[in-house]
Amino acid sequence: MKKLIGPFTQILPLTGLALKGALRDDDLQVIPQGGVLVENGLILAVDDFESLHKANPSVQIQEITGDHVLLPGFVDCHTHICFAGTRAKDYAMRIQGKTYLEIAKAGGGIWDSVTQTRAADEETLTQLLFQRAERHLAEGVTTIEVKSGYGLETQSELKQLRAIAKAAKETKAGLVSTCLAAHMVPRDFSGTQAEYLSYVFHDLLPVIKNENLTNRIDIFIEESAFDAENALIYLNRAKQMGFDITVHADQFTTSGSVVAVKVGAVSADHLEASKNAEIKLLANSDTVAVVLPGASLGLGMQYSPARKLLDAGACLAIASDWNPGSAPMGDLLMQAAVMSAAEKLNTAEVFAGLTYRAAKALNLHDRGILASGMRADMQAYPCNDYREILYQQGKLKPLIIY
Ligand code: NIG
Ligand code: FE
Repeated sequence: MKKLIGPFTQILPLTGLALKGALRDDDLQVIPQGGVLVENGLILAVDDFESLHKANPSVQIQEITGDHVLLPGFVDCHTHICFAGTRAKDYAMRIQGKTYLEIAKAGGGIWDSVTQTRAADEETLTQLLFQRAERHLAEGVTTIEVKSGYGLETQSELKQLRAIAKAAKETKAGLVSTCLAAHMVPRDFSGTQAEYLSYVFHDLLPVIKNENLTNRIDIFIEESAFDAENALIYLNRAKQMGFDITVHADQFTTSGSVVAVKVGAVSADHLEASKNAEIKLLANSDTVAVVLPGASLGLGMQYSPARKLLDAGACLAIASDWNPGSAPMGDLLMQAAVMSAAEKLNTAEVFAGLTYRAAKALNLHDRGILASGMRADMQAYPCNDYREILYQQGKLKPLIIY
């Protein structure tokens, strides 16, 4: 059934903005007193409300009262929200100035979340994930990528991926899963990095394919996790199996983004440590550069060079990295707004990074802009000027319109 939604004080369709590189707010096409004509969850037209009404006089109207600014739903292309337990102890130690090593020695770090997640059953994990997805949805995030990576052995990784599949059926948010079995070599695996990756490749990836649990593979390339050489072998093999590749790259030391570009990854995420060489490499590739301000805020470290990436011509997306360790807050809009003040990203660049550019990182081409034929997943902020949204730094809460 056709439906006309509106009127909205402003609509930002985000169409006509480049997929890569720097943008200008002047290029944002703002439709005043706009409406959206939808049918079966898809957009038919976005235009002036009165014109749409005149052209469709008998159509059902979903009336929006009061000032609202309409945007596409946000796409969070990097989270780890399928976990059990808490790492509040890590955070308390970190803000006392304790190092990564000291925290790990005290029983913290990724391994702590692995232990707590392994101990939870599939139903518990499903419910915890469902609640986090619903919170995200209420904050305007209509598409959420969710990684495994707190199982680190076949059955526990499968439990996480199955929980993601189940939660996806329960929430209205769109969930996209990713296998991050290569998060670190688990402490209870007695073998080398290469042996662990080979075990994952032979024991886990075929089951994932068979059960169609995900078509995305991630790896953490870092001194504390996997080196570039082993990562490249694993990722190339996964790619040959038909998986899309994404990489945790250049978080503390460089090397991950080079691997990501080499294997043709859909995205290289983190990039806090990326220097000019890596920035240039990413800008000249089809790999989306994903920055994660929530991890910088959680760890108290520098932001990724978002401004430099955009100026070099990269496709820049902004994601939350919501996870129990380095990024416990998970408020994507707040994080993007706060980072934009430090990095000097304009409104168009922030909104692009939260919508169609982030959708590209997930290889999704049916969302992130408001145009005919796209999914009608939208959010409306209670204000009369789109600039209020970043100005209020995440404190304005949207109306979700599906
Ligand atoms: O993206 N960098 C590696 N992994 C996560 C942290 C996960 C954790 O600490 O549990 C991240 O920041
Ligand atoms: Fe991450």
